[in-house]
Amino acid sequence: MNIKELEATIKKLAVKGKGILAADESAATITKRLAAVNTESTEETRRAYRDLLVTTPNINHYIAGVILHEETLFQKTLDGTPFPEKLKALDILPGIKVDKGLIILPNTADEQVTQGLDGLSEKLAEYKAKGACFAKWRAVYAISANTPSMLAIKTNAEGLARYAAACQANGIVPIVEPEILIDSDHTIERCAEVSERVLHAVFNALFRHKVQLEYIVLKPSMVINGKKCSAKATTEQVALATLTILRRTVPAAVPTINFLSGGQTPEEATANLNAMNAMSPQLPWNLSYSYARALQEYPMKIWHGDKNNIQAAQQAFLERAKLNSLAAVGKYTNSMEKEVSLA
Ligand code: 13P
Repeated sequence: MNIKELEATIKKLAVKGKGILAADESAATITKRLAAVNTESTEETRRAYRDLLVTTPNINHYIAGVILHEETLFQKTLDGTPFPEKLKALDILPGIKVDKGLIILPNTADEQVTQGLDGLSEKLAEYKAKGACFAKWRAVYAISANTPSMLAIKTNAEGLARYAAACQANGIVPIVEPEILIDSDHTIERCAEVSERVLHAVFNALFRHKVQLEYIVLKPSMVINGKKCSAKATTEQVALATLTILRRTVPAAVPTINFLSGGQTPEEATANLNAMNAMSPQLPWNLSYSYARALQEYPMKIWHGDKNNIQAAQQAFLERAKLNSLAAVGKYTNSMEKEVSLA
């Protein structure tokens, strides 16, 4: 394990007031998101869109790393520079999503488990040669009356830990992402109960696989009610419940926790992150963001495939990144939100 490399990467990622952009949507996912803004998804439109994001002027003031999809890692920006090189020139670290998506775990209520361990070490070496310094693996957990099951929790924890150990062995910092989905009707209390169980299992597996916690990024979901739950938790309730569960389960050795947005509105994701940092300035970990939708929703809508809109889209992206960076130090207020005008 090359500790020096891991140390250098985590030092750049765990910077107070900076976050990570997740721009690693699979072709299927980004195709759905582009279709929602009437834009065709081709290798070229995906390249143009991701070029727009990474070439946003001054984005490096707020973003410390960008998670890329494999397709983008091997693509060039519109000026002909490979994406990882472009990012490094801006002092932004390139990362890579390495899991191979979800499959059904037999003998469960159709619960999902993440695949991608076969050949992972060779892939990591290849990605590293292309410039990737960190990686991402996402496990998902759906809440219902009897899920997630202990079988799904333990199987996903094992996958996350084996992936994280493989990353560190290759000098790559792993983003460990256990995502509790918010699509159902669960209460915030039920989400707290599940989050505690899931995180406990994840850190137990990381320990068994001898993963060095000093060199990981934890990317959890916030503790929040499901979208179909009639009792909507307030910002303060989400912040308090999330911090309570993180304090119970995440060792202080973890340098940084970068939340996913998980389907919250951009404003909610920012306000909730801010409330946690404002409520507890003395936390053992850096508390920041690694959002996809909450950073990209407005720029994607404004751009919708038209190059005349690039500047406006970049402005909207920069604005969201700036607000989230303020939230990462507890200095955001709702009054900073401007009306977004969609083209
Ligand atoms: P969202 O912020 O849209 O949840 O995406 C984060 C991510 O990387 C999901 O894997």
